[in-house]
Amino acid sequence: MAQQNEAFKQLVSHCKEYGFIYQSSEIYDGLAAVYDYAPYGVLLKNNLKDYWWKSMVQLHENIVGIDAAILMHPKTWKASGHVDAFNDPLIDNKDSKKRYRVDHLIEGYCEKIEAKIDKDIAKARKKYGDAFDEAQFRATNGRIVDRQKRIDEVMARLTKVMGDGDMEGMKAMIEDLEIKDPETGSANWTDPRQFNLMFSTQLGNIAGEESKLYLRPETAQGIFVNFLNVQKTTRQKIPFGIAQIGKAFRNEIVARQFIFRMREFEQMEMQFFVPPGKEMEWYAYWKETRLKWHKALGHPAEKLRFHDHDNLAHYANAAVDIEFKFPFGFRELEGIHSRTDFDLTEHQKLSGRKLQYFDAELGESYVPYVVETSIGCDRMFLATMSHALQQEIVPDADGKDSTRMVLKLPPPIAPVKCAVLPLLKNKEALTTKARAIFNDLRFAFDCQYDEKDAIGRRYRRQDAIGTPYCVTVDFDTLEDDTVTLRDRDTLQQERIPISKIEEIVSERIDMRTLFE
Ligand code: GAP
Repeated sequence: MAQQNEAFKQLVSHCKEYGFIYQSSEIYDGLAAVYDYAPYGVLLKNNLKDYWWKSMVQLHENIVGIDAAILMHPKTWKASGHVDAFNDPLIDNKDSKKRYRVDHLIEGYCEKIEAKIDKDIAKARKKYGDAFDEAQFRATNGRIVDRQKRIDEVMARLTKVMGDGDMEGMKAMIEDLEIKDPETGSANWTDPRQFNLMFSTQLGNIAGEESKLYLRPETAQGIFVNFLNVQKTTRQKIPFGIAQIGKAFRNEIVARQFIFRMREFEQMEMQFFVPPGKEMEWYAYWKETRLKWHKALGHPAEKLRFHDHDNLAHYANAAVDIEFKFPFGFRELEGIHSRTDFDLTEHQKLSGRKLQYFDAELGESYVPYVVETSIGCDRMFLATMSHALQQEIVPDADGKDSTRMVLKLPPPIAPVKCAVLPLLKNKEALTTKARAIFNDLRFAFDCQYDEKDAIGRRYRRQDAIGTPYCVTVDFDTLEDDTVTLRDRDTLQQERIPISKIEEIVSERIDMRTLFE
């Protein structure tokens, strides 16, 4: 656990130091749980969005995209259930005046037990070496079995009280488990209460409740209210999907773990409209399809897992998370929900407009059922960065061992695809040649020119931002118009003609390599 926290701290500081993510309004000491994407961060994030959009929209004839407004008619949120049911249970500590989510406090209790299990496993692994079988150890070691049983009991009880919205039951759990304020150790708690997560704002020219608007807490509703517009204007036949990437806002009370839980974040959502009764087939299809998408980006199977929801949201008849192993443990990365006909039916009721589809094959009209895939762009960013950032020992320019931080991002999503480096800064013939190469390549892909510092340090800088290829212009280049092309991961240097750089690099950074 300590090692994991160290890795996470290193990731957070790498994001700042190398220009991926800044705290929002940092000069005013920041705004909690709000972050800005820095120059390399925005390139990486755009590439992740592009990978999602291409795979969902460009490669599916029956999925089209939209970009709906963040502000929507306030009745939208009444119909969707967000005004009445989009709540988190909160509890205040009377001594410290700190506010917490009840479920987070109870999960924290279980995480402490989990940490003890991890410690025992690490000790046993050290003792038994290669012969160690973790699954067998977990199943047979008495202390671990008891601790796991305890976690399972507590989580089952939490699932029940959360599902029932049982505030007294939540308070009883806090008392029974003797949970204390993590920062001060005080057990002087208020009663828990529900807190709505939507941010509200005012419409300019109307007074009172009528003027109350919300910043959307999910992008999905922009898709639901446009369902018939899109179906008619694109002449799609069911089953078909509508995809969207956009900002969402939630007034998260306890914002934790860097960009994992933010107040302003971005979602990539797709609503797939299907005939009633066919939703479970499509739910299974999208579960597998989305898992494959993550694996195609190079995330290994052991860092991904499904987690079925114990508590279904008010709109769902089945729901699963794709969890990713972040440095702080397995957490939700993407949700796949079978949302029934709940949203369209509720919008129909409140708007008085029909949201039905005439199915020519069946000869009948119906409100379609919906299977949704919903992934947070920022969580995808965090997952990708955490998997890619590695510390390695490699030979330096003199052949001695040196440590490097390298971001092993898949080349198609790397922020900078290729850096052009003259071997020496003060040799005009080299810099002029390198600049000419750079000025040509930058039309083809994101490129960087760098002449400052020794060549070894420049390679390290490019490694740290994940640049997959470095082109070095040396004295031979002036003779024969060839350069060296250095591969970030293998450190191999190949000699290639200048005229071939664009073709070779373009082929290796093509997003097609991921889809294949
Ligand atoms: N339309 C369904 C929906 O919004 P959700 O599980 O609440 O479902 C979907 O959110 C995804 O959005 C999550 O899997 C997560 O990746 C991302 N997400 C949710 N809340 C977030 C937050 N506060 N900060 C960053 N990402 C968040």
